[in-house]
Amino acid sequence: MEYILGVDLGTSGTKTVLFKKDGQKVASSTVEYELIAPKNGWAEQNPDDWWNATITTIKDVIDKANVNPDDIKGLGISGQMHGLVMLDKDGKVLRNCILWCDGRTGKECQEITDIIGQERLIEITANPALTGFTAGKIMWVKKHEPQIFEQCSKILLPKDYIRYKLTDLYGAEVSDASGTNLFDIKAKTWSTEILDKLGINAEFLPPTKEAVDVAGKISEKASKLTGLTTDTIVCYGAADNAAAAVGTGVVSTGKAFTTIGTSGVIFVHADEAIIDKGGRVHTFCSAVPNKYTVMSCTLSAGLSLKWFRDNFCSDEVNVAKHLQKDSYDIINEGVDKIEIGANQLIFLPYLMGERSPILDEKSRAVFVGLSAIHTKYHMLRAIMEGVMYSQRQCLDVIKEMGIKNNLMYACGGGAKSKLWRQMMADMYDVNVLTVKNEEGPALGVAILAAVASGMYDSVESACEVMVQTKETIKPNLQSHNEYEQYYEIYKKLYPALKESFESLNKLI
Ligand code: XUL
Repeated sequence: MEYILGVDLGTSGTKTVLFKKDGQKVASSTVEYELIAPKNGWAEQNPDDWWNATITTIKDVIDKANVNPDDIKGLGISGQMHGLVMLDKDGKVLRNCILWCDGRTGKECQEITDIIGQERLIEITANPALTGFTAGKIMWVKKHEPQIFEQCSKILLPKDYIRYKLTDLYGAEVSDASGTNLFDIKAKTWSTEILDKLGINAEFLPPTKEAVDVAGKISEKASKLTGLTTDTIVCYGAADNAAAAVGTGVVSTGKAFTTIGTSGVIFVHADEAIIDKGGRVHTFCSAVPNKYTVMSCTLSAGLSLKWFRDNFCSDEVNVAKHLQKDSYDIINEGVDKIEIGANQLIFLPYLMGERSPILDEKSRAVFVGLSAIHTKYHMLRAIMEGVMYSQRQCLDVIKEMGIKNNLMYACGGGAKSKLWRQMMADMYDVNVLTVKNEEGPALGVAILAAVASGMYDSVESACEVMVQTKETIKPNLQSHNEYEQYYEIYKKLYPALKESFESLNKLI
């Protein structure tokens, strides 16, 4: 029997899943880690935590599945995007990774825009300078931590760091590289024009390859630590969203998915690099060779619900423990009893500032319409709805760009909630599908590794076998109409509050 491993380096934890060649899950293991927030709006993680989690979860799945490591033919890694990992000349991590949801680089992004020019930047990279993206983070370290920048010898994205730890080889990959503001999306190389103008040494960045290309094999050292053999092939892997697309079968025109994970993403497959000149949604390279994607990113989707649960729902967490249930299931049961609109309560999910579609790192979350009549469950419902209004607003931008999609899949931890999937169907007014194997990014990179190790000819043909649709949720017209009334109000709230966010930010 031949097996493949998918490692998903997420923001809340790393999940490793072992699959059979047909996509069937054999065993999985997750290790969570900390999100470090040194200041309001900042977010960091220790890359060693990712590496330790990778070792532990790989060992754990081999143990649980009781398989012969010789039978594990390939491994792929998917990772949270945009994070800045800086290494010294000996390959040692120089500082914590500055994450995708960190908003500290507003000034640096403005400087990048001034130096390169907004139009030219979008022409080369397909995206404007965004605080989440890597270039601003590099410029921030250069300015604020020059002693660290001086020691820098390599810059890697999160999953590229884990691949380096597994293979001892430096490498980068197109779906992730296109989220750095440094990558020429059409030439598919690092842009020397941008690197020169920003004063970033081109040697810091390893050459980029396609997601399905073979990067190498497990090193002796990593083999001892993980229990894998030095014959297991490691492919380049992909950015988490590009990997989720493969794991959901979104690899051809017309198909799209919405993720409710820590972030919320709408991801549409595209044969060409279609660009929003306003930069409200992103255009990246796909994990499917020579294809593209258009995607939006809401920074705090599942994170909004997790934040509320962790701070205000200890009763639900305790009941869940007692009943051996998931605390989100208990929360969902309560929220389901609350009417659409949460009795005139709206939540703007900008806990970490917001990227798509408003591009404002200074914005913050708000409950609008809070009254003494409201309970905790009204607030929870408003949070779930607010996250979906934000997705809907992003979908409207994608439609405005002339991109049509006729199949919408739901994935990510939040999509396990039937209630959230029904909200999605009702707000978008489309059928929402789910796939049988809910492993999304981990399955996606396992599929890439299966192609890399020669089990399938192409990503598309592997998806046909390894991904299967499970369930369809249909929209309810009456609910759709009710949500529309709230959505119209939701859209007006950010413009009305923009100035107050700006003033509040100045007080920091
Ligand atoms: C995408 C983005 C997030 C992270 C989270 O642009 O920033 O989806 O990849 O994992």
